[in-house]
Amino acid sequence: PTTRYYEWVVEESTGSPDGFERPMLVVNNQFPGPLIEVNSGDQLVVNVFNKMSNGTTIHWHGQLQNGTNYMDGTNGVTQCTIPPGMNFTYNFQINPNQYGTFWWHAHASTQYTDGIYGPLVIHSPNEPILGQYDREAVVVLSDWYHDMSSGLLTQYLSNAGIDGSNYGGFNPGAEPPPDSGLINGKMTGSSFLLEPNLRYRLRLINAGTLTEFMFSVDSHVLTVVEADGTSLVGVNVHRVPVNVAQRYSVILTTNQTVGSYNVRAEMQSICYKLANPNLNTMVLGTMTYGAEPSTDVNTQDWSDALPGACLDLNSTQVVPAIPMTPPNSTTSVTVDMSFQQTFDSGGQQIRGFMNNTSWEPDSTNPTVLQVRSYGAQTSFDQNQLVVVSDEIGVIDLAMNNFDDASHPFHLHGHVFWILGEGDGSYQPGVSALSFDNPPRRDTLTIPGFGWIVIRFTTDNPGLWAFHCHIGWHMAAGLLMQFASLPDKIQQFNIPSYVSDQCASQSGGAVVGK
Ligand code: C2O
Repeated sequence: PTTRYYEWVVEESTGSPDGFERPMLVVNNQFPGPLIEVNSGDQLVVNVFNKMSNGTTIHWHGQLQNGTNYMDGTNGVTQCTIPPGMNFTYNFQINPNQYGTFWWHAHASTQYTDGIYGPLVIHSPNEPILGQYDREAVVVLSDWYHDMSSGLLTQYLSNAGIDGSNYGGFNPGAEPPPDSGLINGKMTGSSFLLEPNLRYRLRLINAGTLTEFMFSVDSHVLTVVEADGTSLVGVNVHRVPVNVAQRYSVILTTNQTVGSYNVRAEMQSICYKLANPNLNTMVLGTMTYGAEPSTDVNTQDWSDALPGACLDLNSTQVVPAIPMTPPNSTTSVTVDMSFQQTFDSGGQQIRGFMNNTSWEPDSTNPTVLQVRSYGAQTSFDQNQLVVVSDEIGVIDLAMNNFDDASHPFHLHGHVFWILGEGDGSYQPGVSALSFDNPPRRDTLTIPGFGWIVIRFTTDNPGLWAFHCHIGWHMAAGLLMQFASLPDKIQQFNIPSYVSDQCASQSGGAVVGK
């Protein structure tokens, strides 16, 4: 194992990824941000200097962080924001058994929407799909806005609706609709130069805030071989639905007539029920191969229709290459998810609820420091839904979605099994579950007015967020936490700068112990 060392400066900038100039946020002046490339088992050290006028954190999406929960980079859960003008050194081991396609992003309110994200790739000689491709390329898909997210969030939460001539005016409770979509930070002209007769592994990452993308390449069947870091038995498709925060690897073979072919990333506005059809935007790039770059783009979309629903590739398509049967569960938890209008001193608000809680980050006393101080006896604020596991066990989490739209949910620090999904509410003992090598991943889509059941082992000490990855929804409160093994959390050797940075924001009050 090697130590991989990165120095990052996060700062405010201006940019025009889609041709429209706006203020945005960048890491080392790059957008998308720097690619992190490591081997399984490496030590990753990223020293993040915050040159912005707001606090930030960086989360390493999909990293297990065994024993280093306080490096998970989640504001209010594992740390306070890094204050302006200060730095925070993330230092953790990449799990020796983890490999595949991941990403990193800011995890403070909706900040990553403004540009703080990038790819993270873990290589390993043990990855089952290793011999199946010759070259690889990263393909970051993201929706994009023309305004800073903080203002859009205020409008969204205030339930005033997002106006603007494009969107039909007043639209209460509607998420801010993106203005465009990007492939590797560009709206058009993202081009990939390939060689003929090779197998390319394309690492698709949806780093967006709201929109699912339907990805395809004209005339090329794609073989899906990875979902969220789990290698799969290859399955051939024409199009891959990639929801927010999900990743897939697909293998494309350059065996067609030499030339240029469109890469299509279609934003699935149907997933968020937007009235404006213009927003079913197709983002185009090209794959070109041949002796000379060809200007002759003679390329046609697949003729099969887009699916009408926003669902992940199903359990017959996402089949792990290394089969596993999940252990029996020891605990079941059911969570109902909904949106409600609330009325408080701030006026009318739209809030997301997990059971009766609507998360608000404790910005000066993250839950991991609370548990470190008080252990399993911790009593959490009423905004926090925290499921505590004192011992290693196996949790079944059933979630009922009482919203009409589908939602991409992510669990930090774990890879879960997807045991089942369906319409309506989960009926224990009645709804069908499957235990035969079910899909394993870290982000799944919960269907509109539907349910899912996932299973995971509580063997990783720490406070782990489980939340909707639609930026607007997490900020509206759709986040709960799992607290595993509080005794071990109390023995964490948390660097002093973690609590120091909290103390500096709470007027110097002592945080944790
Ligand atoms: Cu991509 Cu809470 O994370």
